[in-house]
Amino acid sequence: MTSRTGRHFLHIPGPSPVPERVLRAMDRQVIDHRGPEFGVLGREVLEGCRTIFRTEGPVVIYPGSGTGAWEATIVNTLSSGDRVLMFETGHFATLWRQMVARWGIEVEFVPGDWRHGVDPALVEAKLAEDRGHSFKAVMVVHNETSTGVTSRIPAIRKAIDAAGHPALLLVDTISSLGSVDYRHDEWGVDVTVSGSQKGLMLPPGLGFTAISDKARAAGKSNNLPRSYWDWEEMLKPNATGYFPYTPATNLLYGLREAVAMMLEEGLDNVFARHQRLAAATRAAVEAWGLEVLCQNPDEYSPVLTAVMMPEGKGADAFRAVVLEKFDMSLGAGLSKLSDKIFRIGHLGETNDLTLMGALSGVEMGLAAAGVPHQRGGVLAAMASLRAGLDG
Ligand SMILES: Cc1ncc(COP(=O)(O)O)c(C=O)c1O
Repeated sequence: MTSRTGRHFLHIPGPSPVPERVLRAMDRQVIDHRGPEFGVLGREVLEGCRTIFRTEGPVVIYPGSGTGAWEATIVNTLSSGDRVLMFETGHFATLWRQMVARWGIEVEFVPGDWRHGVDPALVEAKLAEDRGHSFKAVMVVHNETSTGVTSRIPAIRKAIDAAGHPALLLVDTISSLGSVDYRHDEWGVDVTVSGSQKGLMLPPGLGFTAISDKARAAGKSNNLPRSYWDWEEMLKPNATGYFPYTPATNLLYGLREAVAMMLEEGLDNVFARHQRLAAATRAAVEAWGLEVLCQNPDEYSPVLTAVMMPEGKGADAFRAVVLEKFDMSLGAGLSKLSDKIFRIGHLGETNDLTLMGALSGVEMGLAAAGVPHQRGGVLAAMASLRAGLDG
């Protein structure tokens, strides 16, 4: 029987469900983006972003998706002919690499197995070898949304420093910001890229770049042309809360509300909640007798869990059964993981009971789709959550 009552369970790793409070905050008339009321909103959201990115420096908010913010990062810091160091952690690192290469930038792309994050020792070794300092940037995806593997940014920063290398550190936090502890200033990141539709609990449509002084200085002498993405054009009107072109006003109402919600909960509590839900999800996967794609426990993603299908069983047919029978969307395997894994998103507006609903849907779906597994994943997840409460 197909069930279409109640709400749809959106358990992909972003876009994530938008809280009612954020929806209500956006359900307002548009205002004059050159008027005084907008200036107040603009200043509030720009300040709120600094709190979330944990930076004293500027954060630029673009009407655009994360991919746009990727492009902004490149065109504001690098030059054609430059060399950069990147790591094949998964689908999104691969896409960012392709974009970089389109600007005539040479990429050393360190191969990876899509089951591990960036190895800080390898960063140090590569940079130590580069005595002429030809690498202009190290570019890393913090949370690989395609694999559920998180790279350790503080250790990568330490590796760059240990090699005594001046490369910029450019980090994609599109699926980690607001879900995973992240500190732009403290970790010495030069550009932090993000998007609205994941940990920030907003609809898609905003891209962000947090910018260090060193990154801004690099933009004074690089050679890539830009207009829409130009930081300097943005930062002038941003100083008083305004934008050089029509901003996404209603998304900014939502952003103001989402930041307020996160600060009310407390950022550390938000991050701990994500860790707890991720641990419960992994407990369920283990009890089902299935395998988590991420192989290093230090790199488990708090945002999503990628689950490998047993040999001979397609993930897409399983996801189709779950959608049809239980009205739940699970994430697909991307590019080389297509049909081999499914991804459970547990980010943003998620709590113990929404997670338990999702895991029940997965367990019932495994049975309905004839995927070999052991029962008891839901019980294991409940035990994990209960243990967390007692602790
Ligand atoms: C880690 C990561 N980087 C980049 C992107 C691309 O962002 P967008 O789809 O918002 O353009 C995504 C999208 O899911 C992502 O997860």
